[in-house]
Amino acid sequence: MLFKAFEVAESSEKEYKSALVTKSEDDLPPGEVLIKVQYSSLNYKDALSAIGNKGVTRNYPHTPGIDAAGTVEKSADPHFNRGDKVIVTGYDLGMNTSGGFAEYIRVPASWPVHLPEGLSRKRSMMFGTAGLTAALSVYNLKKQGITPPNGKIIVTGASGGVGSLAVAILSHLGFHVTAVTGKEDAVDLLLDLGAKEVIPRAAIDDHSGKPFLKAQYAAAIDTVGGNILATVLKSLNYGGVATCCGLVSSPELHTTIYPFILKGIRLIGIDSVLCDHHLRKEIWEHLATDWRPAKMDKIVSVCTLDTIQEHLDSMLKGQLTGRYIVKISS
Ligand SMILES: NC(=O)c1ccc[n+]([C@@H]2O[C@H](COP(=O)([O-])OP(=O)(O)OC[C@H]3O[C@@H](n4cnc5c(N)ncnc54)[C@H](OP(=O)(O)O)[C@@H]3O)[C@@H](O)[C@H]2O)c1
Repeated sequence: MLFKAFEVAESSEKEYKSALVTKSEDDLPPGEVLIKVQYSSLNYKDALSAIGNKGVTRNYPHTPGIDAAGTVEKSADPHFNRGDKVIVTGYDLGMNTSGGFAEYIRVPASWPVHLPEGLSRKRSMMFGTAGLTAALSVYNLKKQGITPPNGKIIVTGASGGVGSLAVAILSHLGFHVTAVTGKEDAVDLLLDLGAKEVIPRAAIDDHSGKPFLKAQYAAAIDTVGGNILATVLKSLNYGGVATCCGLVSSPELHTTIYPFILKGIRLIGIDSVLCDHHLRKEIWEHLATDWRPAKMDKIVSVCTLDTIQEHLDSMLKGQLTGRYIVKISS
């Protein structure tokens, strides 16, 4: 069996170039479940993998794609049968295991989740890792007792994949959302997704050196890290909760201990990659039912294997808005 794949190759000068190539089943890594991929999606990590970031992908040639939704073609594990519709996100998919930017993947049986009732493969990729991460962030805020009457929730990197879905899910659940964006042209979209107000990134990038700023937010979903997360921590109400998942601004966090010891602020790390399998299923069930935002179609664009590279380039420049899904096969 031959199939199409988007592949990134490394030259002897350490330059990374992508191309559409033909592969065979024998090229796939070992694993119990062979899946025909119908949809994948674009995530920041894919963009890093495509430029040779060794923290993401060590060996090339390599097919990125940390998300895949498709149909089981063959399974050596009794939990999966031919024809089952499944989602695979995270674990090592697309990092050092050939990923979802190809018509087939082969993965260990511990990675796929059955597609929940009421969710199509296409819609599952509208969420993808970004949606799972946004929903895990919301789950953790709720687990810490944050409810709509507690006050405003601030979401950073709001026009990105994780951020826009966090805005949409929180708004759908009745929270008052303040969206932070660096893009003037994303304001209308964010309001349309349910944000009550949108503020420019510069407004939450404090360099005053003060340990606290005006307390305005009950909680935060931060997707960018760096000084923006540090500013968010200074702007939370007493007992506020912040989740952090991303580092597009910076992986560094320069802060003081004061928000934690004088205001009881809690900072929670989010990891959707190795997140517990039962929790993962629970979150997908929520995304298929009560947490499914009505307006998410507005933030989704579709691309194909031929146009992935240009969108990954835009993603690295912080220019993409919303979610891009990749139609891989029918
Ligand atoms: N921990 C996990 O399990 C997990 C899972 C998924 C993603 N992530 C991480 O979460 C982050 C967001 O992922 P994503 O898929 O949403 O990426 P994305 O679609 O590229 O969105 C990132 C957004 O961050 C903002 N941004 C870009 N450059 C920035 C800068 N220099 N300073 C401040 N903000 C900037 C932009 O939004 P605005 O213009 O609206 O500000 C951009 O749209 C990435 O670091 C990703 O690796 C982590």
